[in-house]
Amino acid sequence: MTATLSEKDLEAHFEHTISKDQRIEPRDWVPEGYRKTMIRMIAQHAHSEIIGMQPEGNWITRAPSLRRKAILLAKVQDEAGHGLYLYSATETLGADRGDLTERLVTGRQKYSSIFNYPTLTFADVGVIGWLVDGAAICNQVPLCRSSYGPYARAMIRICKEESFHQRQGFELLMTMMKGTRAQREMVQEAVNRWWWPSLMMFGPPDGDSPNTAQSMAWRIKRHTNDELRQRFVDMSVPQAEILGVTFPDPELKWNAERGHYDFGAVDWDEFKQVVSGNGPCNAERVEHRRQAHEDGAWVREAAAAHARKTQEVAA
Ligand SMILES: [Fe+2]
Ligand SMILES: [Fe+2]
Repeated sequence: MTATLSEKDLEAHFEHTISKDQRIEPRDWVPEGYRKTMIRMIAQHAHSEIIGMQPEGNWITRAPSLRRKAILLAKVQDEAGHGLYLYSATETLGADRGDLTERLVTGRQKYSSIFNYPTLTFADVGVIGWLVDGAAICNQVPLCRSSYGPYARAMIRICKEESFHQRQGFELLMTMMKGTRAQREMVQEAVNRWWWPSLMMFGPPDGDSPNTAQSMAWRIKRHTNDELRQRFVDMSVPQAEILGVTFPDPELKWNAERGHYDFGAVDWDEFKQVVSGNGPCNAERVEHRRQAHEDGAWVREAAAAHARKTQEVAA
């Protein structure tokens, strides 16, 4: 064995690992672009989990029954756990968690645009579970085979929990749809507000998504944004029929030739506005996160002091 491997050998080993569909692990050399892309992607995902606690957390104290409250609490706590695994995964790539939080609260790093919409009624809790967690599953199931090992493994557990989130949302909506006319209207109204933003969760159309080709070549991503969006539409229409709700899209119809549902154009201007910070709740979400981070400073200080003491005693 040679004493040191040249950059060329390392690169060849990396390419070989990817081409064999094997996982890249923290001990492995990776090109700088891969490391940066992976950190950005996992950090944005982690931020989305943590910011995503807010819209629904808003309803915990107002849940209509003990059962609904217990379910919602469990779900929101799961999202916190998802954020924590994912921040840990970024640390295996050399990122610093404090730095990532700093980037989030100063607007330098993004999170999913969906969490910048308000939750106006309790039906929103059901619709978020059904559509938003449903879209997250569509996005995340293929990521269980992502080339970066720690991310792929985190995704397996996360997807199991997301599927509980989706089911509880659907079950809540089903209960409301069997209720009064006012409840049914509340569900339909929430569906009308969340449908288009859910389709935006898959990101810009393929022609407008500059990072997709490289991410697919590195097998970080397995499908394009448009493929996943189509899969989500095809999956959601029959579920809407079972529930007895409609989607606010007059162009939505089955295309027998394609074997898929056709659907209308997503308002990409709205998406750009929300992603660039001008959605209905962006400022509120980031400010809430910043405040929570500041309020938690004493916990971090205490943990660091305890770790120092333990080390001193051991020494
Ligand atoms: Fe999650
Ligand atoms: Fe979830």
